Amino acid sequence: MSENWHPASWRGRPARQMPDYPDPRLLREVEQKLASYPPLVFAGECRALEQKLAEVCAGRAFLLQGGDCAEAFAEFSADKIRDTLRVLLQMAVVLTFGAGMPIVKVGRMAGQFAKPRSAPTETSGDVELPSYRGDIVNGLEFEPEARRPDPLRQIQAYTQAAATLNLLRAFTEGGYASLTRVHQWTLGFVDRSPQGERYRDLAHRITEALEFMQACGVSGLSTPEIERTSFYTSHECLLLGFEEALTRIDSTSGLWYDTSAHMLWIGDRTRQPDGAHVEFCRGIANPLGIKAGPGMTADELLRLLDILNPANAPGRITVISRMGADRVEAHLPGLVRAVQREGRNVVWSCDPMHGNTIKTRNGYKTRPFDRVLGEVRAFFAVHRAEGTHAGGIHIEMTGQDVTECTGGAQAITEARLSDRYHTHCDPRLNAQQSLELAFLMAEALKEERAALRAAS
Ligand code: PEP
Ligand code: CO
Repeated sequence: MSENWHPASWRGRPARQMPDYPDPRLLREVEQKLASYPPLVFAGECRALEQKLAEVCAGRAFLLQGGDCAEAFAEFSADKIRDTLRVLLQMAVVLTFGAGMPIVKVGRMAGQFAKPRSAPTETSGDVELPSYRGDIVNGLEFEPEARRPDPLRQIQAYTQAAATLNLLRAFTEGGYASLTRVHQWTLGFVDRSPQGERYRDLAHRITEALEFMQACGVSGLSTPEIERTSFYTSHECLLLGFEEALTRIDSTSGLWYDTSAHMLWIGDRTRQPDGAHVEFCRGIANPLGIKAGPGMTADELLRLLDILNPANAPGRITVISRMGADRVEAHLPGLVRAVQREGRNVVWSCDPMHGNTIKTRNGYKTRPFDRVLGEVRAFFAVHRAEGTHAGGIHIEMTGQDVTECTGGAQAITEARLSDRYHTHCDPRLNAQQSLELAFLMAEALKEERAALRAAS
């Protein structure tokens, strides 16, 4: 167990990006209540995920992590959860088929409520209000009442996370995710697109293969490998009082786990080695992500690895690089080489979203899909050159037919962003863009495998 650590030890460290609650007494009451609530995930599940990530680390699997930038109380419905899951399942199938390796599926779901912001306040005209920090903290509307941080929102976030997780478990373990239903995951509006057609072809081949196996007398198509899939949850470890309240000791291992999600990541704005977020994360045994923007130096990364993974356990740490398409080449190789040189075990994942955000003339935050693809290509190219495994992807996406990122096969223009721009925070890939990305990565992974085979 980590030395001099306890679930509240972060309180002695400088904590960035935390809200100022006007009613600290109510905050304490809420945190105490949350501490008495049941865990959302189990330690054994977190360990299973860590083992799968260790396989990614060894180059034998690939991590697919995706979901909303910010989940929202007003956008909470079974259909929305199902639709996001469908797209992730489709992407996973495309990747499994292309890459010929297992895909570890992790949602930015069931708890992705807290947001870091670039400024503590927002000004409109001559009114200045606290920034929106995610539904777990305050409301999006630009009104004093909505923007006041309200601890009771944490209870609602817990409840929504529990219900979301329950539905995800039902879908992924109850037959919906069975490979025999691979055709049924396509959303209506995707079906008619070029991506939809490409997916249909692939689904058809999978069905044929399954039928072939059945015809050969492989009777067990109802095996868990075909019928079920493991799905894990994750969110940014940001609102530390909430995370502390859900942190429990696991009786089997004697280790502390943050039971709010299987995997937690530290954001690019809160990864100071002496800061509260790193202090909290070093003591929990969940698999961890570390976001790495262009400001991350090799020394900083190695220091974080020393603090967060002193035992160098593979699967414990995923480095999620989010450089921006035109900065990958300048910044990522240095990090990869330092980690290789020091023999540190990490999963390398690519977030092609957060370094590629721009503001349009009409005031929309968007991400040109070309740049998103550009960052993914550059990420794969760096790992090819360094001989390391491009291990994963981390995206903001949705199953809804939104127009938030420009480009893609539908050629969404800046003028059309306003058609269906629904995000509470950052612009997300829609289902077609997500599928297009999956096909591109499947090709890149195939090339990586071919190169490895040729080299061995
Ligand atoms: C995020 O993942 O939503 C996020 C804020 O990312 P980053 O910390 O990389 O900016
Ligand atoms: Co975001």
